[in-house]
This record gives sequence, structure tokens and C-alpha cells, in this order.
Amino acid sequence: MRHLELIKALPKAELHVHIEGTFEPELMFAIAQRNAIEIPYTSVEEVRQAYNFHNLQSFLDIYYAGANVLIHEQDFYDLAMAYFEKCAEDHVVHTEMFFDPQTHTDRGIAFDVVIQGLTRACRDAEQKWGITSHLIMCFLRHLSEEAAFETLEQALAYKDQIIAVGLDSSEMGHPPSKFERVFAKARDEGFLVVAHAGEEGPAEYVWEALDLLKVNRVDHGVRSEEDPQLLQRLIQEKMPLTVCPLSNLKLCVVDDMQQHNIRRLLQQGVHVTVNSDDPSYFGGYMNDNFIAIADALDLTEQELKQLAINSFEASFISDQTKQKWIQKIQNWV
Ligand code: ADE
Ligand code: ZN
Repeated sequence: MRHLELIKALPKAELHVHIEGTFEPELMFAIAQRNAIEIPYTSVEEVRQAYNFHNLQSFLDIYYAGANVLIHEQDFYDLAMAYFEKCAEDHVVHTEMFFDPQTHTDRGIAFDVVIQGLTRACRDAEQKWGITSHLIMCFLRHLSEEAAFETLEQALAYKDQIIAVGLDSSEMGHPPSKFERVFAKARDEGFLVVAHAGEEGPAEYVWEALDLLKVNRVDHGVRSEEDPQLLQRLIQEKMPLTVCPLSNLKLCVVDDMQQHNIRRLLQQGVHVTVNSDDPSYFGGYMNDNFIAIADALDLTEQELKQLAINSFEASFISDQTKQKWIQKIQNWV
């Protein structure tokens, strides 16, 4: 494995991870049992065998079903703590995690239950491992604008615990323009904004995320390469793309890792970062994603360091803390 020791040792920030996508089958079984909820699998092996996706929708169907066993504050706490433990192992020192409130509120789970469980885990992770974190609330784009407005309304009481809003779920047929007014309100209320765009959807959706939603980062964005003018815009504005290599492979956005464009994008000056997306479903956490591209694309030490630096530059932490981590990476021998 190329540069394994460097990958392990580099401090990293994760900017694109869905907390519901970190749900390991073992924990899913344990929580299902204690909540007396039936799941359609008899063993962990059977669950993993079901993780054979051919596109985004085939994954989302299983991902939403898995989240159904989360009921109590403690469930959300346990879910997030299990993820933080992986962060500690991978030397991820800062994380900005997505959560999908509508996946839970639509099942009758209170918004408050979700947010209390997650924020308690964030506090404990900082105490235990020194890992800092922010929460990003995503709207499910297959649902209506009206439902997104209702969710934003609920989030206003938790403004100090949610740094940004995002947009996820089925991309095709649900362009960013559908949520232009919701995002305008979110920005007015002081939230930063991000959106999934250009994962399965066309470059046009990335333009919309920039021009209509006025995003601070684009999640995925790998299809931007199909539009040279868009690429120039991303480079000029130093717009971060939160790229998720193993996700792209598992969801057939790329046929094999050697064809992934993250190195080409980096070499052209696009501000790309490496992330795990839904690590329990896609076969790996942060370091696994780094290892996969380092091997397949023959990345140099300098490129790996640049990717780690980019992760802090693109993060929503203070400039002072950013500089602390960036200097650590730059001074690496
Ligand atoms: N929700 C969880 N993972 C996602 C992804 N990769 N794209 C869109 N929505 C998601
Ligand atoms: Zn995602």
C-alpha cells in the first residue's frame, strides 16, 4: 500500500459524511433488538450481502430502511459515538457531519431527540479524543419544498447547534432550483449552505447550486469535469468539492478507481477534498478512501498532504484553528 504511514499520520478533516451512513450492521442489530424492532435480515453477513448497489437510488432504499431502528436519544448518541471512534483511529481531528432530520421526524421521532443525541456525542467526543465537530442539517430533495420549509422552521430553535444546511437524497429530477427559496431563507437566518450536486446529476445542477443556492461548498461535484467553463469557475472561486471516492465506486459513478478524476481535478487546481460519505455501506472510512485513491491513482506524498490541507481550508472552523492544522501538515518531514 502506497504511503500508508503518511495517510495514517496526517491530521484530516471530514466534510462529507452522513451520520446515518455510518450505521454498522452490528450496531443496527443491537439497537433493533433493544427497541424490539424487526429487521429483514437474520445475520450481519446477510446485511452486508445486501450492500450491492447499482446506483444512488438502490443504496438510498436500504439506507433509509436501516435508519428505521433509531428511536431514542441514546440510539443517535451511540451511532455518532461509534463514528467518532473511527475518526480517532483514522486521525480525523475535525468532522462536519450531515444528518437527515426528515428521515426521523417523518417516522414520528422528535427533532429534539435526534439533535440532543448527536450534540451530546459531539461534546463527549471532544472531551474523550479532542475531536471537534459541526452538524449540517440536510433536506431530503425527493420531498417537497414545503416539507423543507417546515424542517428549517424546526431547526431555528437549534441554530447554535447547526452550522449549515445541505441537500441530499435522490439527485436526478430534483435540481437545486427546487430549493432556491428555502436556501435563501436559511442563509438569511445565518446558516452556511452546502448541497450535493454533480454526483449522478449533470454539471447544470452544479451551476444551480452555485448561482441559485449560493453554496459555500459543493458535495461530490465530480461531474463538473464535463463542463470546462464550470471547472474554470470552481478553480477561480476556490470552491471546495467534497469528493467521496469509495462512494463513487460503489454507486457506479465510476467503473473503477483508476478512472476516478480526483487527481486530475487536483492537478488542475480544483479545491478537492477526500471524504467517506456513507462508510458503513461503501466499504471504508476516511483512511480507506485515501488508501484507495493513493493506490489506484499513484498519488505522491505532496498530493496526499495537499488533500489533507484542503480538508482544513474548506472546513467551517476558525481561521486560527485551520492554520494550526495546516502548519502541522506543511512541517511534516
Ligand atoms: N444520502 C446519503 N448518502 C448520499 C449520497 N451519496 N448522495 C445523495 N444522498 C445521500
Ligand atoms: Zn453524501
